[in-house]
Amino acid sequence: MTSPARKLVVTGATGKQGGALIRALLAQQQPAQPFAIYALTRDRTSKPALALAAKPGVHVIQGDFANPEAVFKQLGGKPWGLFSVTMPMDARREEAEGKAMVRAACEAGVEHIVFTATERGGQTKSDTTPTHVPHFRSKYHIEQEIRAQSTASPQEVTWTFLRPVAFYENLSDDFLGRGYVAMWRLNGLERPLQQVSTTDIGLIAADAFLNAEKEEYRNKAISLAGDELSPNDAARVFKEVTGRELPYTYAVVGRALRWMMKEQLGVMFDWFVTDDFGVDVQALRKRYPFMQDFRTWLAEESAWKKA
Ligand SMILES: NC(=O)c1ccc[n+]([C@@H]2O[C@H](COP(=O)([O-])OP(=O)(O)OC[C@H]3O[C@@H](n4cnc5c(N)ncnc54)[C@H](OP(=O)(O)O)[C@@H]3O)[C@@H](O)[C@H]2O)c1
Repeated sequence: MTSPARKLVVTGATGKQGGALIRALLAQQQPAQPFAIYALTRDRTSKPALALAAKPGVHVIQGDFANPEAVFKQLGGKPWGLFSVTMPMDARREEAEGKAMVRAACEAGVEHIVFTATERGGQTKSDTTPTHVPHFRSKYHIEQEIRAQSTASPQEVTWTFLRPVAFYENLSDDFLGRGYVAMWRLNGLERPLQQVSTTDIGLIAADAFLNAEKEEYRNKAISLAGDELSPNDAARVFKEVTGRELPYTYAVVGRALRWMMKEQLGVMFDWFVTDDFGVDVQALRKRYPFMQDFRTWLAEESAWKKA
């Protein structure tokens, strides 16, 4: 008799990172899917939620970060794992919701939590420094709550923190993407910024769940970056791959966005200049050879891949 699949709650399931994790798990070539995936959405009738519900082994559950206890009640049994994504627009709320999700998961009996946070200046600094970027600081404090809950819970709770840098996906083929590039360019056309593909975050999150008991993931934090490139590097690679100019909008729009969204974006772009991410990209690529550089992501996944 085979043992029942472990129940894995995936938050942000209809979004980039949670969606990438589910795709990575479903692509596993194992004889039996080791997880029953519980994909959280606020609206189970939305197009992405319906698409998830059609996948084998995926149960779509409806709920909100504002009421995490209700999420776990829908499982009809203990959760084994939690993939936690948080929403950064209001960092205080993000911190409160992220901590509440962790506490609810531990009370429901969770055994392994993968929390996707942000890189904060290399391994040592990220472990010890909240930074003054509001939505980096909130994630630091959620990490601290996970550490505290893992020792306070009656059952053994282990964790893996993923700490990605900026997503390639920010370069979308729309106003937001052009605005992002305009904001980035204001930091200097030759100043590099570390970036990563959310597909790779999903692959590594899947590996962390599949190997949760192994030393490499058990109570470990992993910073994630696939490339390091300046706006000029990005423009050159973009032209080589797509034959087009990297789209961006006026500097004045970039300045206005950084000013209007100071808490969410402005402080972070300033931090890229004063502090910056600190991932050892080459060492990480040795560990995860599949990690995409910008050229690969552009050619294989981006909105411009067919161009
Ligand atoms: N962009 C970057 O460069 C970057 C870099 C590092 C870290 N991050 C961090 O990544 C996180 C965002 O992850 P993502 O980009 O993968 O997300 P995303 O693509 O923006 O998707 C958001 C997901 O969260 C769900 N959601 C939103 N509000 C919710 C609520 N109140 N209750 C329950 N679910 C809710 C949405 O589900 P429904 O709509 O279906 O309800 C959706 O699945 C942020 O914390 C951000 O700071 C971003």
